[in-house]
Amino acid sequence: MNTESVVPLVDGPKRNGTLPSATNSALHFPKNFLWGTATSATQVEGHITNEWTNFVAPDGKHCRVACDHYHRYREDIQLMQDLGVKAYRLSIEWSRLQSAPNALLNRTELERYCDKLDCLRAAGITPMVVLHHFSNPLWIYRNGGWTNPATVAAFENFVTQLVPALRSRVRIWNTFNEPDTYASCSYLLGEFPPFHKVRLDSFRSVINHMGAAHLRSCEIIRRAGSAAGEIEVGYTKNWTHFGTLKPNRPWDWFMAKTSHTIFNRWVMDAFTRAGRNNAATFQGLNYYGRVRFHNGHSLTPARGRSREELAQLGVFSDDMFERYPPGMETVLLDLHRRVGLPIYITEHGAACDDEKFRIADLRANLTAVHRAITQGADVRGFFYWSLLDNFEWQFGYTKKFGLLSVDFSNIKLPRFPKPIAEIFRTACLENRVP
Ligand code: FCB
Repeated sequence: MNTESVVPLVDGPKRNGTLPSATNSALHFPKNFLWGTATSATQVEGHITNEWTNFVAPDGKHCRVACDHYHRYREDIQLMQDLGVKAYRLSIEWSRLQSAPNALLNRTELERYCDKLDCLRAAGITPMVVLHHFSNPLWIYRNGGWTNPATVAAFENFVTQLVPALRSRVRIWNTFNEPDTYASCSYLLGEFPPFHKVRLDSFRSVINHMGAAHLRSCEIIRRAGSAAGEIEVGYTKNWTHFGTLKPNRPWDWFMAKTSHTIFNRWVMDAFTRAGRNNAATFQGLNYYGRVRFHNGHSLTPARGRSREELAQLGVFSDDMFERYPPGMETVLLDLHRRVGLPIYITEHGAACDDEKFRIADLRANLTAVHRAITQGADVRGFFYWSLLDNFEWQFGYTKKFGLLSVDFSNIKLPRFPKPIAEIFRTACLENRVP
């Protein structure tokens, strides 16, 4: 199924750096391309009190310690430096910093984040700071979360305090991570707190409120500026291609079309309409692959199908989604035409125990990014999801996305590089598809 245009076509912006070479057998990326890795607070930090704290995943595990990154960020930054990454996308946990509506930010926790940002700077790693990544303070959550219009003002208060406090250390801000995934898992699929199903009205109000908060955050961030350099700000869209396994299956087609409309089109509309697009300086993209429907069911391990069973149907997946590298190229070109902003790939990665598969997936997707760039898409960076194996929300610790593994059976939670880490290191250091 083709994606459809939801935003009028505009000319692309001026490119940052020189065009990559397409003829060279080593596929080089533009000068200044930002190679990074990513995590989010709830998934790695541990010691957080938010709506996920009491959640127990099907593997019987919770996120109360996670990777203990809260205590080990110095060690993890050292590991990032060894990996050769130039950037790190991290989220700042709202629930740590604000204990009540309009309360002053907690100084101790703020200083801890400042120290982390200082360590990153000392390691030569540029931070991209995410303001909202699937979690909220309990006082927000208990009052209806993002279905409540008052959350927009509460978030604005948080951002109004946070941004000036970090302006000397942060110049790249990512307002919302995947409002689409957050709203659908929380209010349509019943997988994230508060575990509601098929509440389309709630889905829409979450997206609209997040869209409004995104606009306000962009304004606050641009007004504050940054002592660290030119401000960049944007939200991140998860782009999933939806389609059917077989042609001429009206019900499957209807499911794919409806999923696309709700997940992609409504969200893009909410974040780009009424000047919201002009408020951002970049478009963030998280891309993992596609979901195809067959006999009314989606063909993904995330919906309980085994990789082996899917492979027999011709659906090649990691432990989450069908992989579809050509879709990386098409979505980059599509976003470039629709949105007209520079793009950061703020997440891409694969989860499984088969490192050969993950390495092949990385190469194929980076080649697709390169192809999109040679056709004019202004892609500024690529962040591998994730630095560490971590708490994968509704799945607990069973989905292994890390460049580094974490031995969760050992109380010291030691980290070990996986084979893919060496491949990614080559990409970072040599600025090319490894
Ligand atoms: C994305 C999320 C991220 C992680 C990856 C696998 O949707 O942003 O936190 O769960 O998927």
